[in-house]
Amino acid sequence: MQIAIIGTGNVGSAIAHGLKGRGHELCLGVRDRTRPDLLSLAVAVDARLLEPAQAAQAAEIIILALPWDKAESAVKALGDLSGKIVIDCMNPLAMIDGSLSLAIGHSTSGAEQVQSWLPGARIVKTLNQVGAEIMQDNASLPHRPAQFMAGDDEAAKVAVSILLRDLGFEPFDAGALKRARLLEPLAMVWINQALLRGKGRNWALAAVSPAT
Ligand SMILES: NC(=O)c1ccc[n+]([C@@H]2O[C@H](COP(=O)([O-])OP(=O)(O)OC[C@H]3O[C@@H](n4cnc5c(N)ncnc54)[C@H](OP(=O)(O)O)[C@@H]3O)[C@@H](O)[C@H]2O)c1
Repeated sequence: MQIAIIGTGNVGSAIAHGLKGRGHELCLGVRDRTRPDLLSLAVAVDARLLEPAQAAQAAEIIILALPWDKAESAVKALGDLSGKIVIDCMNPLAMIDGSLSLAIGHSTSGAEQVQSWLPGARIVKTLNQVGAEIMQDNASLPHRPAQFMAGDDEAAKVAVSILLRDLGFEPFDAGALKRARLLEPLAMVWINQALLRGKGRNWALAAVSPAT
């Protein structure tokens, strides 16, 4: 699949590394194509570097890995993405009363905001529930880590399931896009354990079921 990654920080670069060699055409959407670190990343993951809007327009699947406070303007600048699959990895984080929190939730979600900025795009919320390191490489974990998806387009979720498996995850369909209201707080559960409860970043949730 032709995949554009918009935002090449912790998450974007981890996903790019994780997808390398999986048979996809990767393109990184960056603001400065002359930056040495981005040129090195592009070589390392065998990707092209393009301006964000060019990358998004050229791709079938666009992965958004931007800071929430920059997301609205950056996403709107990508242009019309009608019909394309857009994976929203972003968590709407903000400091509230001195602690890292969700800026919105319960009655809406970041993913639903993204849908309002990109009417016609097929938004799937996922890859927001674990740290970037687990997205890049989880092969040493004893179980496949679970990764939930929420989206209104069933075919888009099937395509995203393939990418999640390529990244070593066991995908779970959480239902319609508004179920992102559950998945964004789930990210806070991981963040709380990882950063505040001493568990560190090298872990993920996995599903266990009775043998059939
Ligand atoms: N870090 C994690 O483990 C983790 C896990 C799950 C979900 N998330 C979510 O994923 C998102 C990204 O997190 P991150 O840790 O990867 O952030 P990050 O390391 O700060 O990277 C952000 C990226 O966004 C780019 N960017 C910023 N403004 C932009 C704009 N206007 N147009 C185009 N690109 C722009 C930055 O490019 P420049 O280099 O040019 O500034 C950078 O490549 C966040 O919403 C976060 O909540 C993070």
